[in-house]
Amino acid sequence: MTPAPDPTETRGRVAAALDRLDDLIRHVRWLVARYSPRVVRRAWVGAGHAINRSLPKGLLGRSLLIVVVPMLILLGVLTGVFMDRHWMLVTQRLSDAVAGSIVGLANISDNTALSDPLRDDVVNSAAKAMGLSVQILPTSEIGRVRRASSDIVHAMLADGIVKRTHMPFSIRDTSDGNRIEVRMIVHSGVLKVDFARSLAYAANWHFFLVWMVGTALFLVLVSLIFLRNQIRPIERLAAAADAFGRGRPVEGFAPSGAREVRQAAHAFIGMRRRLERQIEQRTTMLAGVGHDLKTILTRFRLGLALLPDGEETADLRSDVAEMEAMLEAYVDFARGDADETPQPLDVEATISDCLRQMAEPAGRTVHFAFTGDGALTLRPTAFRRLIANLIGNAVRYGRTAVWVTAERREGWLSVTIEDDGPGIPSDELEAVFRPFYRLDAARNQDVPGTGLGLAIARDVARSHGGDIELGPSPRGGLKATVRLPA
Ligand SMILES: Nc1ncnc2c1ncn2[C@@H]1O[C@H](COP(=O)(O)OP(=O)(O)OP(=O)(O)O)[C@@H](O)[C@H]1O
Ligand SMILES: [Mg+2]
Repeated sequence: MTPAPDPTETRGRVAAALDRLDDLIRHVRWLVARYSPRVVRRAWVGAGHAINRSLPKGLLGRSLLIVVVPMLILLGVLTGVFMDRHWMLVTQRLSDAVAGSIVGLANISDNTALSDPLRDDVVNSAAKAMGLSVQILPTSEIGRVRRASSDIVHAMLADGIVKRTHMPFSIRDTSDGNRIEVRMIVHSGVLKVDFARSLAYAANWHFFLVWMVGTALFLVLVSLIFLRNQIRPIERLAAAADAFGRGRPVEGFAPSGAREVRQAAHAFIGMRRRLERQIEQRTTMLAGVGHDLKTILTRFRLGLALLPDGEETADLRSDVAEMEAMLEAYVDFARGDADETPQPLDVEATISDCLRQMAEPAGRTVHFAFTGDGALTLRPTAFRRLIANLIGNAVRYGRTAVWVTAERREGWLSVTIEDDGPGIPSDELEAVFRPFYRLDAARNQDVPGTGLGLAIARDVARSHGGDIELGPSPRGGLKATVRLPA
C-alpha cells in the first residue's frame, strides 16, 4: 500500500515550484535590464512605474483585480468565439433556409404551366406552411425595389438567394423593423414575401450575454465578500501594531483569519509581551536603584547637617543637593510616562504655554507659528515634557531668541525648535541623546543639567510613534525637529 501524500510536503513542493518560477521571471527581467538597448530599458521601467501607479494600492483592490481581470479576459474570449462561431453559423443556416423557401415560392410563381388561380393557391398554402406571408403586386410596384442594406441578415439572405436563382430581388426591413421584406420579379408581377426577422436570425444571443455577465457579476460579488473577510484580520493586525507603536492601548485583539495571518498575529502578540516585560523589568530595576541611592544620600545629608558649617561642608552640601536633583530626574526618566493614557490635547496652547513659562522669563525673544489643526490625542504630561526639554535646551544654550514652528499636515505633526547658541557638532548629534551624556565639561561648566533631557524627549517621541532629529539651524544654533503621527 502506498502511503497517503503528506499535505505539507505537497504544499512545500508547490511553493518550491512557484519559487523557481519567480526566480525565472526575475532572471528574465534581469536579462532584459542588462542587455536591452537604453530606449527599451527606459520604456520597460516607465511602463512598470505607470502600471504601479495606476494599480490599486490596497490589498482588497489588488486581490479583486487578480480575480476580475482573468474573468474579463475569459468572458471576452468566450463572447468572441461564441459570436464568431455559434451565432454566425446559426444565423447563416436560418437565413439560408428562409432564402430557399423564398426562391421555392418564386419558382412556383414563375411556373407558367399552372393556371393563375391554381398557382396563387399553391403559393399561398406553401407560404403559410413556411410561416411566410406573400402577396403578388402589380409590375408597377417594381419601381420600389431597392438593393439590400449592409445588415448582416440581409447579406446572408441575399447570399442564399443568389446561390439559387438569377431573378432580381431586393431586401429591406419593414417600417417597424421587426419584419423583413423580400421582393422578386416573377412572371406574373412582383412577389412580395415578408416574415418575422427572428425567422432568419439567431435571436437569443442576448440571453447568453445576460447570463454570462450576470454570473460574472455575482461571482465578483461573492469573491468581494470572501476577500474582505480574508483582509479584515490583516487590517486588524496592522491597526494593533500601529496602536502599540504609538503607545496606545491595544484592546480586544485576537488572531484570526488565514494561517499565515494568524502566525503573524501570534508573533506580534509574543513580541508585544516580551517588550512590555522588558520595559517593566527595566523600570522596576532602575526605580529600585534610584530609591536605594536616595536613601543613602538622605543619610549623607543628615550626617552633613551635623557637621559644623565651613567651606568644605558647603561644597559637600551643594554636591549632595545636585546628586539628589540628578537622582530625581533619573528616577523620573526610569519611570517614564508609558502608563499615562492618551487624551485630546491642544498642542498649540501647550507649546505657547511652555514658551511663556520658560523662554520669556529668561529674556529670550519668542517666535512662534502654528499651522493646521492643533487638536491631537497624545499623552499630555509626556508631550509637555518633550516640548519643555527642547525649549529648555534652546533657552539654556541659546543666546537671544527661540524660534518654534509647528505644522500639522498629511497625518503628521512636526515641531521645529531653533536657537542661536553654539549648536552641537555633527559628530555629536546622536550621542547627546544618550542618558547622562553632556557635551564636554568645558562648555557646560556652569550650566546645570543632568544630560537626561534629550533622552527623555526622544523616549516620549518614539513612544508616540515618532522621533526627534537634531541638526544645525540657519539661525546659528541647534535645530531640533520633532515628528509625531497625528
Ligand atoms: N540647543 C542646544 N544647543 C547646544 N547644545 C545643546 C542644545 N541642546 C542640547 N545640547 C547639548 O546636548 C547635551 C544633552 O542635552 P540634554 O538636554 O540631554 O541634557 P542637559 O540639557 O545637559 O540636561 P537636562 O537633563 O537638564 O536637560 C547638553 O548637555 C548640551 O551640551
Ligand atoms: Mg536639556
